[in-house]
Amino acid sequence: MYRSQQLALKYFIAAIALFGIMIVFGLLASAQYVHMGFLFQVLDFSITKTLHIDTMILWLLMGFMGCIYWFLPQELERDVEGIKLAEIMFYILCTAIATVAAVFIFVQYGGSNEFSMWFINQGRKYVEAPRWAAIGIVLVVLVFSYNIVATAIKAKKITGIMGVLMIDLVPLFALYLIAFPRITNMSVDLFWWWWLVHLWVEGTWEVLIGCIMALALMQLLGTARRIVETWLYIEVALVLGTGILGLGHHYFWIGTPEYWLAIGGLFSALEPLPLLGMVVHAVYDAGTHHMKTTNKPALYWMMAEAFGNFLGAGVFGFMMTLPQINLFSHGTQWTVSHGHFAFWGAYACGVLSVVYVALQKARGLEEMNGIRWKWSFGLLNFGMIGMVGALLISGIAQAFYERAIGGSTIQAFIDAQSNLWFLQGMNARLVFGVLFAIGYAVLVYDLLTIGGKHRTKQAAVLRPA
Ligand code: HEM
Ligand code: HEM
Ligand SMILES: [Fe+2]
Repeated sequence: MYRSQQLALKYFIAAIALFGIMIVFGLLASAQYVHMGFLFQVLDFSITKTLHIDTMILWLLMGFMGCIYWFLPQELERDVEGIKLAEIMFYILCTAIATVAAVFIFVQYGGSNEFSMWFINQGRKYVEAPRWAAIGIVLVVLVFSYNIVATAIKAKKITGIMGVLMIDLVPLFALYLIAFPRITNMSVDLFWWWWLVHLWVEGTWEVLIGCIMALALMQLLGTARRIVETWLYIEVALVLGTGILGLGHHYFWIGTPEYWLAIGGLFSALEPLPLLGMVVHAVYDAGTHHMKTTNKPALYWMMAEAFGNFLGAGVFGFMMTLPQINLFSHGTQWTVSHGHFAFWGAYACGVLSVVYVALQKARGLEEMNGIRWKWSFGLLNFGMIGMVGALLISGIAQAFYERAIGGSTIQAFIDAQSNLWFLQGMNARLVFGVLFAIGYAVLVYDLLTIGGKHRTKQAAVLRPA
């Protein structure tokens, strides 16, 4: 194994651990919807939710980095340049995350001053980490980019996938700089903040996962490079074509000029197209290889990624992307339903697929089998789809009673919070959330033990009598 692949395994361990912490805070936050007053003034919803979504961004980012550190030396046939620096950065990142989490839990609030910005919380959804930690993240991403570019230069080899990946690093890095707030006008501030949120998840991250899935497909099914690269180019062209102006679907109601209604409505309605391309691509490849692979869990998670991305991001996003509908659905649990389905489908499933790819090699297993991965795959996906459905019901109840009937007043908002359908949806989400959490526990158990018996047999053979 290359040194960079050992680093990749560390990233995966950290990512899976953070995934678990994310679930704990998700469960706490959803319990707070059901029992108001639960942990009131001890760990308020604002804190549990912040921890839930910040750990999500970080575990996925760490997962992506693991995927790239895993595939990079294989793709370029040499170890990664600057690997020592990358290893140091891993520990810096882990320490920063632990420190920020401790501050969020134990300090929680600060005054509205520069000190709070630097050391407690910057207050922008998804990128709340205080400034010092945000600088740390910038450094980690810089080193990551350096690793990739320098290795490609040293290897004197730029494959199509590598080319796309390297170009993608530029906006991935540059957009994060928007996480450092300076703007005091709320509309202008949101205008730019959406660049970060939307262009990350619907632009640079989509391209990144496209590259990762292309590399995984070649490995899992032995698909020809020519085919995966052609698809990748088509997907990237479409993602950029629709995603950039699709940004407009967040500009409907924040005080931006009215032309955004038309631009956002039109271009974001086209956004499902590249995602449809990705699902067709994956299914087509799996079909031509008769789903034959020695790593079933990885292939199943990859299929979940393709369909989840299309359904969660494409279809569920499309549902409320037209301004005529968004007027009613904006900021309700309907949005939360799409947010969960999209992040889960597009990114979490993809990372889990590569984790299984890496485990197969790390443990030297000819075939990945067993029953546990099936249980975790089933429980996690069943739990997620259940949560997504429950949230959709609550969201539609809100859109109907709070907006359409209630006329979007504050009183209508409060009334809708005690609407029976809304509450039933919230209860159901908690139940499915628990199932999801059980699925996570099985996943961890499986990752720790898969191929265990086989490994000991192998070890026994190797041991001298
Ligand atoms: C046991 C599992 C989970 C539970 C119980 C849970 C619960 C929650 C809750 C209560 C919120 C706050 C929603 C609000 O502001 O009203 C939330 C937000 C969010 N969660 Fe989860 N979650 C879980 C798993 C996940 C997973 C696996 C992902 C993605 C991979 C995810 C992504 C998100 C996102 C993106 C948001 C912000 C959505 C928005 O504000 O529109 N969650 N979650
Ligand atoms: C992988 C890709 C995607 C991810 C991870 C994702 C995730 C999210 C999340 C988390 C939010 C809530 C943001 C917040 O207020 O905090 C959101 C909002 C939204 N997304 Fe997506 N999304 C994706 C793709 C799409 C696509 C392709 C479409 C349209 C076809 C779409 C349409 C929307 C719309 C209209 C909103 C605003 C909802 C509102 O007004 O409350 N999304 N998305
Ligand atoms: Fe968006």
